[in-house]
Amino acid sequence: VDKDGTRVFDLRMQAGEKEFEDGRKTPTWGFNGDYLGPTLRAERGEKVRVRIRNDLDEASTVHWHGMHLPAKMDGGPHQMIKPGGSWRPDWTVNQPASTLWYHPHPHGATEKHVQRGLAGMFLLDDKRSARLKLPKKYGVDDLPVIVQDVKFDGAKFDHGHEMMRNVGFLGDRTMVNGTLRPYQEVGDELVRLRLLNASTARTYDFGFPDDRSFSLVGTDGGLLEQPARMERVQLSPGERAEIVVRVEPGEKTVLRSFPQDNYGGSWQQRFSGGDDSFDVLELRAAKQLRASGDIPWRLGELEVPDGKNPARGRFFDLKQSGINGRAMEMDRIDETVTRGATETWTVRNNNGMPHNFHVHDVQFRVLKVNGEAPPPELRGAKDTVFLPSGTTMKLAMRFDGPADPDTPYMYHCHLLAHEDDGMMGQFVVV
Ligand code: C2O
Ligand code: CU
Ligand code: CU
Repeated sequence: VDKDGTRVFDLRMQAGEKEFEDGRKTPTWGFNGDYLGPTLRAERGEKVRVRIRNDLDEASTVHWHGMHLPAKMDGGPHQMIKPGGSWRPDWTVNQPASTLWYHPHPHGATEKHVQRGLAGMFLLDDKRSARLKLPKKYGVDDLPVIVQDVKFDGAKFDHGHEMMRNVGFLGDRTMVNGTLRPYQEVGDELVRLRLLNASTARTYDFGFPDDRSFSLVGTDGGLLEQPARMERVQLSPGERAEIVVRVEPGEKTVLRSFPQDNYGGSWQQRFSGGDDSFDVLELRAAKQLRASGDIPWRLGELEVPDGKNPARGRFFDLKQSGINGRAMEMDRIDETVTRGATETWTVRNNNGMPHNFHVHDVQFRVLKVNGEAPPPELRGAKDTVFLPSGTTMKLAMRFDGPADPDTPYMYHCHLLAHEDDGMMGQFVVV
């Protein structure tokens, strides 16, 4: 924190080498280190400044995924940082406690930059969440879980796309927080896992082998109003979920990703990774566990609009050729929204393959999924939603940041190969 109370972070984008296993060094990228980046943390109401230096030999950006901030600070493809250059965005945090993240966003190269290791978590806190009796000892009973799938031969990552894999890159094993075969020792009865799917294309369906239920307490944009008992939670690229799971003294259990049956046809299922299963993170419980008490019955307060009396509706058709039939162009503004207005956005995928949809600057409410009320995991604040083929979702959002007719925000598919190929559009707030 500096003299005027601003919380200052330093991030350096750098190339490095990391030993993943068996002693061989793998070329990587990272923030302030060889792979991934530090967890940044700030409180609602705080002013934040990030001093970023790009020590890579390629231009890149740093985008604050899920953050409500002025378009110039967003770190999208219009805020490029040259090799050797720097960028110092600042903003005031004004949104609920949540698990956000940061990653590069250079147009056409996001997949590569994220895959090499540029990603980190950005946690927000607020007064309300500080008072709640939820596990909150960072690294002890409150764990960041950044999940990425990789292909790794012991010496280097293979980032190649396979033929027929129209979702992009799919790995054959997973890492958590940049670690292969990860495990975590836990000493509390209740463990909070902040799950982030930082993979480029893969969707996971998380759960436990004994089908124990856990409490879903938060989604992309913060805590749910009430915890939801679940046995599985599905996350597509870019999405987050906070779950609280109970462990038994002395047990070993594993967070696993199970095959998914909601992809539509078996062809899709297979070529989009829906048939795959992974052990993601082993939890090793101590013989004696600290008592955790119960999870509170009431959690967060939703600040997303309810979608009644929207100022206008828009429609987005996800196609591999682009959104609404148009591929992203840096100098074309696709949508102009009015500051302070609530809108409903209807997003449709009947493209025959899975997509998802992410909107910058806002958290939104899911009003309908194929005409029905949303399931528990879609009842909180969201900034990214999964749309297997055959899905239409209606979302409600309000754009209440500062007007800036010249600097666009993005909306896009967060399967990064699709985004890089142009499944992205731009909107301005005026
Ligand atoms: Cu996570 Cu437009 O990005
Ligand atoms: Cu984003
Ligand atoms: Cu897509």
